[in-house]
Amino acid sequence: MSAVEQIADWRIFQTAETIATVSSTADTIHLTWSDGRQSPYDRFWLRDNCSCAACYLASTREQTFEIVDAPDTLAVQETELDAEKALLVLWSDGHRSRYDSGWLRINAYDDARRAERRSASPSPVLWGAARADVLPTFAYDSVMSDDGELLRWLVAVRDIGLTLIQGVPTEPKTLLGVAHRISHIRETNFGTVFNVASKPNPDSSAYTAVNLPPHTDLPTRELQPGVQFLHCLVNETTGGESIFVDGFAIADAMAQEAPAELAMLTDTPMEFWNRDSRTDYRWSGPLISRDGEGHFSEVRFANFLRGPIDAPTDIMPGLYRALRLFQSMSRDARFRVERKLAPGDMWVFDNRRVLHARRAFDPMSGNRHLQGVYVDRDELRSRIRVLERELGA
Ligand code: OGA
Ligand code: ZN
Ligand code: ZN
Repeated sequence: MSAVEQIADWRIFQTAETIATVSSTADTIHLTWSDGRQSPYDRFWLRDNCSCAACYLASTREQTFEIVDAPDTLAVQETELDAEKALLVLWSDGHRSRYDSGWLRINAYDDARRAERRSASPSPVLWGAARADVLPTFAYDSVMSDDGELLRWLVAVRDIGLTLIQGVPTEPKTLLGVAHRISHIRETNFGTVFNVASKPNPDSSAYTAVNLPPHTDLPTRELQPGVQFLHCLVNETTGGESIFVDGFAIADAMAQEAPAELAMLTDTPMEFWNRDSRTDYRWSGPLISRDGEGHFSEVRFANFLRGPIDAPTDIMPGLYRALRLFQSMSRDARFRVERKLAPGDMWVFDNRRVLHARRAFDPMSGNRHLQGVYVDRDELRSRIRVLERELGA
C-alpha cells in the first residue's frame, strides 16, 4: 500500500509494545500485541480517527472529516504493517488510513486498556487534622521561576486541593503574577482581584468582621470558580484565623458512616443567592456532586448564601438531617486544618472541593487585608497537560 500523509498530534503516544498480529473482518480489525493483549477496533471508530491530510486540517490539527460521510457499507478491504510497524488500512471506498502503533495501543478501548486509563486518571488525596502532613508548601520564587516547581505545585492543587505559597511579596496585586503562571483570571462582580477587608456598605458577609463558616465561594453561579487564591497582605487583628476543610474527605466519611444522608445531599438541589442593588445571582445545585464514574467531583455550600429550600414535603425532614450532619462534620476537629495567615502567605485551593472559613475578628485590633482571584479548573488542567508535554513528565 502506498504511504499516507498524516497530520501529527500535539501529543506523543509511546508504547513499548508492538503489533504482533493483525486480523480483520469487514467490520472489525483485531490486533494482538507483543504482550498478548487483544484489541478490537470497530470500522467506524477507526475511520473516524483517520488523521490523514484529507481528514484533518493541517493548520489546527483538527478533524474536518465527519463520520456520517462514510458509506454505510464501509468495510476493511486490506491491512498491512509498514516499515515503522504502523497499521495501514485500505477501505472499501478507496480511502487509505495510517495509525501509529503507539496511538492504537494508548487509545484502544479493550477492557484492559479502559481499566488502565481509569486507574491512571488523577485521584484526590484526602486530608484532615490527622493528615495535615500531606499539605505542601511552595516558595514564591521557585514557583515563579522554575517550570518544574510550577508543575509540582499545580499537580498538588489538582490532587490535594490545598496548597500554601510562602514568601509572596505583599505589594497589592502580586497574586496576579502567580495566577498568570497558570492562565487568565476568572473575573466576577467582586472584581478581577477582590479585596477581603472589613468595609463600609459590604456586599458580602466576607467583607465584614463576622465569623464565616466553612464555604465554597460563589455557589451562586452555575460554574463555581475552580481555583481560589487568597493572599495575605496584612493580618494584625485579634481573631480572623483561617480554617480549611476537605469537602471530599467529609463526603468520603459520609459514604462510610451515613450513606442515606449522603444520598440526600447528592440528590437534592439547594438554592444559593447573592444579591445587591445591581446584581442578583442564583443557582440551585446539590451540596455534593459525583462525576459519571461515581467519584466525588464538587462541593457547593455557603451557609450565608442559601435560599429557602424547595424540596418535596416527605424529603424535608431527611434533608435537614443530612444538612445538619454535613455542617456538624464541617465543624468537627477531625476534618479541620486551622492556620493564621501571615503577610506573604498565599493559599491556593480547589474551591469546588475545599471549604474555607474565617473566625470572627476584632476590626479595632488592627488592619486585615487579603486579596483574592479565581482561575477555573479547566485552566489548571490545561496548564498541567502542556507543562507535562514540555517537560516530558
Ligand atoms: C471570602 C473569605 C476569608 C477570610 O472572602 O470569601 O472566605 O479570611 N475570606 O477573610
Ligand atoms: Zn483520512
Ligand atoms: Zn470565601
